[in-house]
Amino acid sequence: MERIIITGALGQLGREFIKFFNKNNTYVLATDIRSPLEDLSCDFEIADAMDEKRIDFLIKKHNINVVYHLVAVLSANGERNPFMAWEINMKSFQNIISLSINNGIKKIFWPSSIAVFGTKSNLSFAAQDSILNPETIYGISKLAGERLVNYYNKKFDLDIRSLRYPGIISFDTKPGGGTTDYIIEMIQSLKNGKDYTCFLNRNTELPMLYINDAVKGTIDYMSVDKQNLKVKDSYNITGFSITPNKLEKKLIELGCNAKVIYKSDFRQDIADTWPKKIDDSSAINDWNWKFEYGLKETLNVVFK
Ligand code: SER
Repeated sequence: MERIIITGALGQLGREFIKFFNKNNTYVLATDIRSPLEDLSCDFEIADAMDEKRIDFLIKKHNINVVYHLVAVLSANGERNPFMAWEINMKSFQNIISLSINNGIKKIFWPSSIAVFGTKSNLSFAAQDSILNPETIYGISKLAGERLVNYYNKKFDLDIRSLRYPGIISFDTKPGGGTTDYIIEMIQSLKNGKDYTCFLNRNTELPMLYINDAVKGTIDYMSVDKQNLKVKDSYNITGFSITPNKLEKKLIELGCNAKVIYKSDFRQDIADTWPKKIDDSSAINDWNWKFEYGLKETLNVVFK
């Protein structure tokens, strides 16, 4: 029986994983640095993933055998404070690894990101095995983490798995401090009749994935026999790619009449080093990855 701890459980991904595990009657212990405002319907403990002793105590107390380590400072927030971003992203990662080895944790999930790519990757269609030269502190921490995933898998025979998420779209819980966040902000503003100032240029194409696909894909991937997984660091996965302009047009077609004002800021420089599309054929071949929500299905969730 799996007994799962989620770190960063109140973030965009964490809350959705909690819902999924609750529905499937899987034990989950949610942890975060602040208390939830609503009932999560699972055990919750305040814990900072930087505090190795505290997490160790909780792993033992709740007989945990699987970790979803979701703590991360995202790309835009990372650029605002790169030293803090590196410290949080890497120290929490290292803590989880060493705790997992010492507590005999059987599986770990850790998200990577399209932020690992860079201008030396083929940004029109980034391959699984691209040259990776990330230029954000977030991307650099994700690339370091990917190399460590590969290293710890080999060195300690640790079953740590990772996916390179594109921008994740969710409406119940919003992300914070990412570059792909514009898509959620634009949809919600225009739907509510409010003009939206977009921090990316109109033709900036980025890959996206609806949250239900991200959660289902991750769970599927985590349950595959390890021997089938040829990629030992992190698999590319994606849903659909879109530009702000294309999204704006779709929203107008759906009856929105608020305006989008384009005023790019430092996040444009981040997006310019990220891929427009990514090749997820390794995930398709190795563990049958597939998404269900294209743009239309994603917008249907909001415009029912
Ligand atoms: N959504 C993340 C960000 O924009 C990318 O992984 O930072």
